[in-house]
Amino acid sequence: MLNKLRGHLKSVQNDPESMDQLTEENFPKHIAIIMDGNGRWAKKRGLPRVAGHREGMSVVRKIVRHANKLGVSILTLYAFSTENWKRPKTEVDFLMRLPERFLKAELPTLIKENVVVRITGDRHNLPDYTKRAVDEAVATTANNTGLVLNFALNYGSRSEIIDGMKSLFQDVQDGKLAIEDLSEASFSEHLMTAGLDDPDLLIRTSGELRLSNFMLWQLAYSEFWFTDVLWPDFSQEHLEEAIKVYQKRQRRYGGV
Ligand code: IPE
Ligand code: IPE
Ligand code: MG
Repeated sequence: MLNKLRGHLKSVQNDPESMDQLTEENFPKHIAIIMDGNGRWAKKRGLPRVAGHREGMSVVRKIVRHANKLGVSILTLYAFSTENWKRPKTEVDFLMRLPERFLKAELPTLIKENVVVRITGDRHNLPDYTKRAVDEAVATTANNTGLVLNFALNYGSRSEIIDGMKSLFQDVQDGKLAIEDLSEASFSEHLMTAGLDDPDLLIRTSGELRLSNFMLWQLAYSEFWFTDVLWPDFSQEHLEEAIKVYQKRQRRYGGV
């Protein structure tokens, strides 16, 4: 990570302002993004909502590359919530095709760039073509060691917590876990994000100031950065700006 960041800093050495912005110290390890505003971006242009999702997909491509270049360890992207099934069928269908489209174009690059693809969410009620695409990406990148690109797909935090509780109770019933040993750490290991550190920085685009059922447990002490920028307009510079703001924050975790 540090080597990558050093490389990036060197590459911007002719741009002192940019140098100012990022430091190796306090670099966020896990960045999570609620990518919002695709529909409004399209509406502003008199286009159908799905045009915003298409544009949003190319921004995902750019931001993944840039996060990797900066040396981010984990990038979580909220792609589809358990509540998004309420949308019109044509829009849901389009969104469900996006992983396939994205991975068809990007998987070779992701493999080359040593990215690990991971899915956080309920895969069961995804259409078969979506499952196939994400399963292939997860399987073929499983042994990579670089950036973890974690798509929150058909993800909802409350149902994740309930499922986690169910599997904990099952472990207790099976004698694998004693109630006394239930801890924050053991509970975390029963969530879909098991093995991933909590996000250090949460970004939400499009001016909405809410979590929309995203990582309620994992974001307990994360730093939040909101922007009015719509996701299709989000750029590498915005990502760097968010990290720069994060680096100036003081994380106290209840201390002084
Ligand atoms: C985010 O953009 C993408 C998803 C939620 C899948 P939206 O589709 O929510 O766009 P707005 O919020 O309607 O503008
Ligand atoms: C949150 O955005 C979900 C994703 C970005 C995938 P929404 O657009 O669905 O959230 P609400 O409905 O405005 O809260
Ligand atoms: Mg939205």
